[in-house]
Amino acid sequence: MTVSADVWQPVGSLADLEVGDRKEVSLSNGKLILILRSESGYYACCADCPHQDTPLAEGSLDGDILTCPLHFWQWNVRTGEKVGIAELPLEMFELREDNGEWFVRV
Ligand code: FES
Repeated sequence: MTVSADVWQPVGSLADLEVGDRKEVSLSNGKLILILRSESGYYACCADCPHQDTPLAEGSLDGDILTCPLHFWQWNVRTGEKVGIAELPLEMFELREDNGEWFVRV
């Protein structure tokens, strides 16, 4: 796979992430994203809740369902689709691995 530097931003190795873990990554363009490892894989989304900008890193991840800690909106991290009472989708970013390094498309 060829990784283009002007589209794909490096986020480093994710080897230390276990299922249920998440970490915030500040990209070189200033954007803050959240990377999650669920039971089904690795996903990248906006770091702040689309409702009132609460840091989603403080939320819970159960299976593929991410829950915001403030008003408990939920999303499926595989798709960004809202679940239950959520009124807005979650912005997701494409994530790829190349020789042990990961990149997010923003
Ligand atoms: S701030 Fe996240 S659901 Fe309200």
